[in-house]
Amino acid sequence: MSAHPLDPLSAAEQESLVKAARAAWKLDHRHLVAMLQLHEPTKEFLSKYKAGDAFPRFGRITIWDQEKAMVSEGVISTSGEVQSCTEIPGAKAPVLAIESERAIEIARKDQRVIDALKKRGINSADDVHMETWPIGAKIPDYIDDGRRVIWTPMWHKRDKDGNFYAHPINGLHAIVDIDKFEVVGIEDDEQTPIPQTAGPYRESQQESLVHLKELSIHQPEGPSFTVNGWRIDWERWNFRVGFDQREGLVIHDVRFNDNGNERKIAHRLSIAELVIPYGDPSQGAYRKNAFDTGEYGLGNFTNSLTLGCDCLGEIVYLDAAVTEGDGKVREIKNAICMHEEDFGILWKHVDIDGHPEVRRSRRFVLSSIVTVNNYEYGYYWYFYQDGSIEFEAKLTGILLTLGDNPHADHPSATEIEPGLYAPYHQHVFCARLDLDVDGPNNSVVEVDSFAHPMGPKNPHGGAFETSETVFKDEKSAQRLYDLMKSRYWKVVNPNKKNHMGKPVGYKLITGGNSYPFTLPESVLGKRAGFMYQHLWVTKNTEEERYPAGDYPFQHPGGDGLPRWTQANRSIENTDVVMWYVFGLNHIPRIEDWPVMPVERLGFTLKPMGFFKRTPAMDVAPNKAVCGCGSNCNCGH
Ligand code: NI
Repeated sequence: MSAHPLDPLSAAEQESLVKAARAAWKLDHRHLVAMLQLHEPTKEFLSKYKAGDAFPRFGRITIWDQEKAMVSEGVISTSGEVQSCTEIPGAKAPVLAIESERAIEIARKDQRVIDALKKRGINSADDVHMETWPIGAKIPDYIDDGRRVIWTPMWHKRDKDGNFYAHPINGLHAIVDIDKFEVVGIEDDEQTPIPQTAGPYRESQQESLVHLKELSIHQPEGPSFTVNGWRIDWERWNFRVGFDQREGLVIHDVRFNDNGNERKIAHRLSIAELVIPYGDPSQGAYRKNAFDTGEYGLGNFTNSLTLGCDCLGEIVYLDAAVTEGDGKVREIKNAICMHEEDFGILWKHVDIDGHPEVRRSRRFVLSSIVTVNNYEYGYYWYFYQDGSIEFEAKLTGILLTLGDNPHADHPSATEIEPGLYAPYHQHVFCARLDLDVDGPNNSVVEVDSFAHPMGPKNPHGGAFETSETVFKDEKSAQRLYDLMKSRYWKVVNPNKKNHMGKPVGYKLITGGNSYPFTLPESVLGKRAGFMYQHLWVTKNTEEERYPAGDYPFQHPGGDGLPRWTQANRSIENTDVVMWYVFGLNHIPRIEDWPVMPVERLGFTLKPMGFFKRTPAMDVAPNKAVCGCGSNCNCGH
């Protein structure tokens, strides 16, 4: 039994939901569970909810009927109470792991694949690593467009435990119908040599030359946070951790204790989509435009953090569970990591008399890591003592590779070893930020800095001011970041003023960003229309959860944010959702090989007139660390 309505569905609850759905909707072997998610309670429900209240647990189950080629979405409780069940004509389910496995199995056995591999000197299809990718571009004309198909890039597993991404098999793919499980096409139209330079990275395969002395983090009194089910209390913060099969890590109900007054900041924070447009027109790359969140379900790929050294210090883990296509529930031990980190200095000043005051910064870290084929994405949420929240994506893993002739004219990829190319690409994230700054009714404001021309308003040429625009409707809130204006956006509560008479607010500070090169009229450009603006603001609606729509797989395009905002609803002083789109333009470096050192990308939410003064002021000096000698630099 869950303790709170926002708790993620436990393994037992997921099993009950599958059982209930099978009984209620007479599901059989044709019906796959494409996604099973908590049907999250509404704000209204939560506002009335009191600890200890009994509450039903509803799941949102997406069913794919393989025979009928139809998606249905059902909302049902663990005890079998049906709230709704709707068919979604035209929608295609995401690619399920069990479908991928079977597709690879039949592609491996296809005589044409076996023959084509032999032609390339590979005598067994078992020596080939195949992946199943959505066709993120136009589906070849010879394939009936009603079919749900994947294609299979291939790499040669030349060495035992070797890095097969060093050996792409170019120009050979199977296209597989993942409902009928038949190979509908073999593409074998480009013969380039398989690059042979190995790319070892395992400890057993290469000598580690660099050794440092041990660094360990000790918290002899234990960590400064408490975990009560899925509720976390740390410092003056409290919030609830969530986990979703599609989005992975989710944060609910973020509050900050402001001198005894608990104030709500956010209702729900998540990364609602991640799409990776590839910029190489060659045959092995132009289709690799995958929505890792919307076409697979990112939560499915969550790592168990038991084996690694993913976090350092006093760690508390949370387990998660996901339901597979066949209805079996898979538990992911240690899916979410929580710990504290020392984060340098929080603030410092040395007075004119030499008296120093300094505070160290501690941050709370909530993280999880997914492995999607070659790539890893770490999602890190940080909570700070000055009232800030930061999201950071850590991108690592292995570059996607393709083969071409050594030193070929190949303008959209980096040659990282002779004949081994890493195509240019972008990683485009979309955060769904449902802030409720001191209540649900908020407005979003754009703030630009600017200088008047030399004259009465700028007599010395150095003056600059800010101008604020409150977004009235959804169309006017489709915005790009503007470095020339040091642009930022803030979410304010016009009904709640700070002690200077201004609306309390939180600002969104953009981190690194990029703009898509994918043309808007391309198949991917239409499907991922959200990526052409850095900011979107919508009226909060329960159904509007994913910026490219619910079913981006083989979707004709236009869904999600571009469609919803056609209504151009009013977004002033109401419950709004802010969508922030941020991307990394990845021109691979030779040094990203054989494993890419972490690249970081994210954003920060910072109080902007929310507090009377900085909450960092209340933090005590860290006596344990500083000690007090004649050179004391810790302010006591
Ligand atoms: Ni990349």
